[in-house]
Amino acid sequence: MQMKRMMVPAMLLLGSFAMAQPKTNPAQARMNTFVQALMQKMTLEEKIGQLNLPSIGFDVTGPVVSQGVEEKIKKGLVGGVFNTFTPVAVRKLQEMAVTQTRLKIPLLFGYDVIHGHRTIFPIPLGLSASWDTAMIRLTARAAAEEASADGLNWTFSPMVDIARDPRWGRVSEGAGEDPFLGSQIAKAMVKGYQGDDLKKDNTILACVKHFALYGASEAGRDYNTTDMSRIRMYNEYFPPYKAAIDAGVATVMSSFNEVDGVPASANKWLMTDVLRKQWGFKGFVVTDYTAINEMIAHGIGDGKEVARRAIKAPVEMDMVGELFIQQLPGLVKEGKVSVAEIDNACRLILEAKYKLGLFEDPYKYVSEERNRREIMNDQKKMLAKEAAIKSMVLLKNENNVLPLSAEKKIAFIGPLVKNQRDLIGNWSGAGDYKQAVSVWQALERKITAAPFYYAKGCNLVDDEALKNKLNPHGAMLEADVQSPEALIREAVETANKSDVVVAFLGEPFGMSGEAASRSDIGLLPNQQRLLKALKETGKPIVLVLMNGRPLTLSWEDENMSAILETWYGGTMAGPAIVDVLYGEANPSGKLSMTFPRNVGQIPLYYNHKNTGRPLDENQKYTSKYLDVSNEPLYPFGHGLSYTSFSYGDIMLSGKTLGVTGKLTATVTVTNTGKYKGEETVQLYVRDLVGTVTRPVKELKGFSKVTLAPGESKKVTFTITPDDLKFYNGDLQLVHEPGEYHVFIGGSSATSNKATFTLR
Ligand code: BGC
Repeated sequence: MQMKRMMVPAMLLLGSFAMAQPKTNPAQARMNTFVQALMQKMTLEEKIGQLNLPSIGFDVTGPVVSQGVEEKIKKGLVGGVFNTFTPVAVRKLQEMAVTQTRLKIPLLFGYDVIHGHRTIFPIPLGLSASWDTAMIRLTARAAAEEASADGLNWTFSPMVDIARDPRWGRVSEGAGEDPFLGSQIAKAMVKGYQGDDLKKDNTILACVKHFALYGASEAGRDYNTTDMSRIRMYNEYFPPYKAAIDAGVATVMSSFNEVDGVPASANKWLMTDVLRKQWGFKGFVVTDYTAINEMIAHGIGDGKEVARRAIKAPVEMDMVGELFIQQLPGLVKEGKVSVAEIDNACRLILEAKYKLGLFEDPYKYVSEERNRREIMNDQKKMLAKEAAIKSMVLLKNENNVLPLSAEKKIAFIGPLVKNQRDLIGNWSGAGDYKQAVSVWQALERKITAAPFYYAKGCNLVDDEALKNKLNPHGAMLEADVQSPEALIREAVETANKSDVVVAFLGEPFGMSGEAASRSDIGLLPNQQRLLKALKETGKPIVLVLMNGRPLTLSWEDENMSAILETWYGGTMAGPAIVDVLYGEANPSGKLSMTFPRNVGQIPLYYNHKNTGRPLDENQKYTSKYLDVSNEPLYPFGHGLSYTSFSYGDIMLSGKTLGVTGKLTATVTVTNTGKYKGEETVQLYVRDLVGTVTRPVKELKGFSKVTLAPGESKKVTFTITPDDLKFYNGDLQLVHEPGEYHVFIGGSSATSNKATFTLR
């Protein structure tokens, strides 16, 4: 698209620009007048002050704690703060800004509202497994209602980094591996947070992060280098950021990593060419936590030089590092940074405040009454339960061991049965785990004909070194008074009394998220020991998982009767899990990220290229391993139900598609089982021949259908040439004529296929 614009003769472009200047609408004109007038009164220091975002209060994720913030606020050296919330705390600081500073400019109040604010929803990776964008939007809306009633007006969400390496702990914060699904979710979240009008008191600024490519950290090690071709960036990693921009996201966060050898926060190509010129982003960019300072360690200059490069990229707001307020005044004096550059950054931040309506009412988010009404109300808890149910993915269910029968004796075993802390997962800073309903609490309310039993079975973590790394960050990992051997003995005795064992295992919440990369992504050895001992009892075992990333589960897949992935399900995880286990709800989640068989297969993703020597088991010199298959354990899009679905053949409305035409692909889906169930019908496309190589499959659409037993429904997708566009070798967005395969099924592994030609 960009290239198209470049091909227009320069004269013509100038001519048309002179003739048809984009009209400023009256609201925008009023904003421009207001901001201009305000900036005329501001000193250079005050303008630079607007670019400063210190952290006050609660959690700290980086090496620097902002010092003397209150003094700086009074001097007009702060544009916003983060990690402060509640009406009381926010009012105090806002009052300082609007009564004790020369120009009375209100502050922005940011926070990592990632999967709910007080009412906690499943982690983003879990939410994405619902493939339910309408519901995801509602969770973001609910989060904004709570956050805005708690004094906040800005969230550092959505995180949309494409993630193909489950060793990276932060896969838990995003929507998984797919650009199409990721883009739909990015849009839904931005719209959920920002609503249709930022002036309302229950909408907040969203911030898409981490721009860009943070999910491609080498070896899955957090903060590590990334390096990839531009064609991969445009086709595979950029789409969700772009989707957020198209949805009107107000702010963007620059990532920690480098892109093309230049850290994102100094990367002019990324911040100017891609973000503003090609995508037309009009808001401001905030850096990630001390990301400007970290460019010294990246090795592109001293404090002064990195501040200069950052403002010229430009990124507008400096999170915590304070290099802007320290270095920019001097840089302007020396003529190395222009006043126009400072003005531009300051203007964008003031505009965000204006759009929120903060100049009209700086206290609009500090209402005790709204706080009482919005926070953790019943409606939000109901949504949290629905979201937890829809996020769960039934990975395996041999002999329909699930749902459980209330007539059977069940042994609930594992350190996560009574656990509350881990249910709300990472980035749930304002969430109170004590308000989360555990599985056991939900079970105690359940009436069953046969008794059920409990045994802890093992500690969540036995490894002392790991505990020492996790506990300082609130992990609460204690060793039980009983020895590990005694715990296992008790669990085996409990299992022996029962008909079915349900084992609750996984990662403590701190094992995923930021700075939580793992080189081995299996269950921890002490948990595996418990499972092996339970297996010896010969009872059918249902493994219920709580974790923040795809795990390697090859042994578990072979030895467990059923596996239910519940992620960290949030405030209402317990009741949601119990409903699913006993069949009051039917699981419908589908993986948004591939589960590999072992770590050696990583990175493993469904939309890979074919290579010149695609897998052929009978040929040695083809692309494969000697010791493991190429197939994942559970592919992208996989997820079972208590019922079963069958797919009919794909009916295409035609065999050819013209460049201005459209085609429909219809399939009949039938519920062939005994339960009512919801299926996510997925449409994939393969472009067989291109000027550049194309993936073996790409998700291009999905649709959710609910079917009663025996019921059939036709599901129709419309395919247009636009859906077939990709960035070619010149980074032009094009579709190319030729043959295409279209696949429709219940996972990316489907082979239900039809063929058409694009003319
Ligand atoms: C994370 C961001 C987060 C920021 C503010 C950083 O360490 O990378 O995702 O928004 O901290 O808490």
